[in-house]
Amino acid sequence: MSSINGKTTAVKIPAKDAQKKIIDLKQSGAYDNNYIVKADKDYVYVPVTKNFAATQGAGPLKQGWKIYNLCLQRTVKNKSLKESISENLDKSELELAKTSYDIVGDIAILEIDNILQSKKDEFAKALLKHKNINTVLRKSGGHEGQFRTQKMEFLAGDDKRTTTHKENGLRLMVDVENAYFSVRLSNERLRIYNELENDENVLVMFSGVGPYSNLMARKAKSVVAVEINPRGYELAEENKKLNKNTNLTNYCGDAKIIVPNIIKIHESFDRVLMPLPKGAEDFLDTALSALKPGGWLHFYDFLHEEHFIEAENKISSACANLGRTAKIIRTVKCGQNAPHIYRICVDAII
Ligand SMILES: C[S@@+](CC[C@H](N)C(=O)[O-])C[C@H]1O[C@@H](n2cnc3c(N)ncnc32)[C@H](O)[C@@H]1O
Repeated sequence: MSSINGKTTAVKIPAKDAQKKIIDLKQSGAYDNNYIVKADKDYVYVPVTKNFAATQGAGPLKQGWKIYNLCLQRTVKNKSLKESISENLDKSELELAKTSYDIVGDIAILEIDNILQSKKDEFAKALLKHKNINTVLRKSGGHEGQFRTQKMEFLAGDDKRTTTHKENGLRLMVDVENAYFSVRLSNERLRIYNELENDENVLVMFSGVGPYSNLMARKAKSVVAVEINPRGYELAEENKKLNKNTNLTNYCGDAKIIVPNIIKIHESFDRVLMPLPKGAEDFLDTALSALKPGGWLHFYDFLHEEHFIEAENKISSACANLGRTAKIIRTVKCGQNAPHIYRICVDAII
């Protein structure tokens, strides 16, 4: 391959001669088909082999080529992580290798089995070769504490935690260690967005860096979002600007305190989202008090597949305490947390 420091060796040919010369280069084996020809108005840049560049062509091809080093797009796809590391692992290790990773912006977040800890640098190097990945981190714990944040170990590339991630047509600034964000929930967010009507006022409790709130703001009349983690709130404000959502208001604080104050100054909501699967039941009273009669509630929970009914019961009993009734519309699986344990969302009309 003819790449030096990310640049490729190419010859510059006037556009009018390009077709014939490319055929000549291909026939002589000088053409490097790992890269794609680049063209501007007057010239084309054709990737050539190192050998050709070194000898400047020979025989019938010796004709004063203009050699350049420039960045050309690759034709070959990224190898899978497993393919990339296979040379460094023996067969039994390869069978055990858990090659799961998420890509958040230009950061790759790796999960590796304890048994393969000693190989983490090889995994990281393999990931760093992938196009558009500049940082490799490893999850070094589960989601913890009130902020549901996750510790990361730096493995390779730029030592950073903040990046801009694209999802559902939004650009979201995220801090993968200091504020909750999961790329795995993008389809669930889109599902709720598709349920939404244009004239709705929406409350997003536990809003994090704003992936739900900014998406809902694309369609809703107004969106109010509440997040307790100051770093999450700070990024949510950035993301509001980045996505030009002037109909979105972010608050920083405990939803239990903020929401009762909001409903003193804001009409009640057509839809309330509760994306806090661990512990949202403690906030049901607060959510219900903000919801209009006939409004939609989206309540998240982690439950064993045989116990999904418990989430529906939590909603029904909170409603009963407030003299309201819940019509459960559906319970949707939106992720798996552990064997048989799912993240679910109960959609209900209250
Ligand atoms: C599972 S995360 C979901 C974040 C975001 N909705 C998302 O999907 O990326 C739950 C969020 O709730 C926030 N949180 C926890 N307790 C809270 C409370 N009492 N009031 C407001 N936010 C809270 C956490 O800081 C965290 O960002």
